[in-house]
Amino acid sequence: MSSRPVAVITGASRGLGFLLARELADRGHDLVVNARSEDGLAISAAELQGRGVSEVLAVPGDVSVEADARRLVAAACERFGRIDVLVANAGIIQVGPASAMRVPDYADAMNVMFWGVLHPTLAALPVMRELGGGRILVVTSVGGKLPAPHLLPYTAAKHAAVGFAEGLQVEAGRYGVTVTTAVPGLMRTGSPRNAFFTGDRVAEHRWFTLADSIPLLSMDAERAAAKLVRATLRGRPEVVLTPAAKIAVRLHGLAPATTLRLLAAANRLLPADETPRPVQPGHAVAPPGRWFDTLTGLTRRAAQRYHQHDDSAAPR
Ligand SMILES: NC(=O)c1ccc[n+]([C@@H]2O[C@H](COP(=O)([O-])OP(=O)(O)OC[C@H]3O[C@@H](n4cnc5c(N)ncnc54)[C@H](OP(=O)(O)O)[C@@H]3O)[C@@H](O)[C@H]2O)c1
Repeated sequence: MSSRPVAVITGASRGLGFLLARELADRGHDLVVNARSEDGLAISAAELQGRGVSEVLAVPGDVSVEADARRLVAAACERFGRIDVLVANAGIIQVGPASAMRVPDYADAMNVMFWGVLHPTLAALPVMRELGGGRILVVTSVGGKLPAPHLLPYTAAKHAAVGFAEGLQVEAGRYGVTVTTAVPGLMRTGSPRNAFFTGDRVAEHRWFTLADSIPLLSMDAERAAAKLVRATLRGRPEVVLTPAAKIAVRLHGLAPATTLRLLAAANRLLPADETPRPVQPGHAVAPPGRWFDTLTGLTRRAAQRYHQHDDSAAPR
């Protein structure tokens, strides 16, 4: 059995998952990293290994498929003999009005962000129990606490993930496992490059990427990763990130009808085109021009630094 703690991280080929893995490595963990894209995962795993502190095992696979999730946990046990931390981070995001979303969009969101949390968690729990305990971090979203306009499949799936993570936290403590529900607002992970857009794809891509680039609204992703890992290792039940998300979650808890009315008003400012076009990843949407590049410099730099390769698996 490895003498060092071992962390399994899903969705670690880029963005926040890559940064959470890096943070855990810097805190002395060996790593088992996962994502669907073998090439993308290999690039991130090589950088993590290159830091020279941890052993890194890359296990490509789709966590929404139970057999893949079991294989991920089995590979960790076979190589290291233990799992101390599980980070259920893998996610996708589809942006567009509810009327442009189709049933498969909801299925895709639920598959990754509900089943893709549940399968690795259920596979890892008996291992942690046998070892006397462990830490689980479930990365949800402010969209799992209140609705985010033009993100309905995401909102529904993240609400399911919040319910699962909070429910498990209540029950797993008695056998030494803590579950931390991460509820981040916007973080600059560079994700608009691999987010999926429907309806008026250019306009949806524009507002989403601009919001992602506003420093007061979105948070530096490295700081976010550090805070999430610290909270997880301390066994905190919940961590809400970004001041805007904290205000929104509190207000929604106190006055849900008011937040829903405010969000409905915000929704009227978003693009009106409801045509259900096939979703397109951000890197394939034509950028509107130089002014846009200038305003979204922070997001583009994050995409370069956090391995946002143009490898998002095509949805249905
Ligand atoms: N960025 C934000 O502002 C923000 C805000 C709140 C919450 N979050 C949440 O934070 C998490 C990470 O976000 P991010 O911005 O870093 O996203 P990202 O850059 O798009 O990264 C998503 C990761 O998940 C992997 N993935 C997707 N589907 C998968 C599947 N079925 N099985 C295994 N891996 C899968 C992706 O790799 P492959 O495509 O190769 O599988 C990739 O490594 C997500 O859960 C997201 O919802 C993000």
